[in-house]
Amino acid sequence: MLVVKEITELQAIIDQEKKEGKTIGFVPTMGALHNGHISLVETATQQSNYVIVSIFVNPTQFNDKKDLINYPRTLERDLKLLDKTSCNLVFSPDTDTMYPEEDKRQFNFGQLEKVMEGQFRPGHFNGVAQVVSKFFEIVKPDKAFFGFKDFQQLVIIKALVKQLNLPIEIVPCPIVRENDGLAMSSRNQRLTEEQRHNASHIYKTLCEARNKAHTMSVKELKQWVAETINQNEFLETEYFEISDDEQLNPIKDWNSPLNKVGCIAVQCGEVRLIDNIVFE
Ligand code: PAF
Repeated sequence: MLVVKEITELQAIIDQEKKEGKTIGFVPTMGALHNGHISLVETATQQSNYVIVSIFVNPTQFNDKKDLINYPRTLERDLKLLDKTSCNLVFSPDTDTMYPEEDKRQFNFGQLEKVMEGQFRPGHFNGVAQVVSKFFEIVKPDKAFFGFKDFQQLVIIKALVKQLNLPIEIVPCPIVRENDGLAMSSRNQRLTEEQRHNASHIYKTLCEARNKAHTMSVKELKQWVAETINQNEFLETEYFEISDDEQLNPIKDWNSPLNKVGCIAVQCGEVRLIDNIVFE
């Protein structure tokens, strides 16, 4: 497995692989890898000939400075983990390499960036679009792999690729969960033992909510979820919204023919956790 920090070196390698007829699969990450990331790498390996993983904690997508400072950075450990997979190359650039000058680009994703994460983390998706569009421009992958846990990000990345006319297939990959149901996330590392134990209440509540759907109105169910989560002293619901899976418009009625995804953000101590569940 190669580890590369410079763009020119990376592109020389990619050019060579492409000349040999290989397809490039790309998995962007911010490091602090867990089995969710590893499953992205495994899917990328099944669907492409040469797999590139980027590790870069992107400053422009953090609206909260403290969150950026506290974000776990475990490069040595990450490289050891990836070395055991079929990842061919890790690209781990410095901030100056990715941002030789301030990125002033303003993307416009309309409704997609206004709701849920967009409402609570202003500027977050603009930062994600800045860095992902740079990566796409540098790596020019055939396919890029994104986890369903960051559902709104996935929808926005699909919109980004469309806006920029990029010939890249975005492959959504299922959420990987711990044994007790908690969605795997790099941020879980920052939970205390007690918080970690109580955090499993989030997914349990989402599963119960899925069972309860249709027995009460959408509005009542949203309220029930927030109240049930908040009954746990370690958890505070920031939002729970049930939206369609394309335009992210709130669903008002179970009879809507659109696909419905329930997305949640919960504060657990200092750590902000997100998760989602698909409704039938
Ligand atoms: O999902 C993430 O880890 C990040 O938002 C991404 C896509 C790597 C961009 O920094």
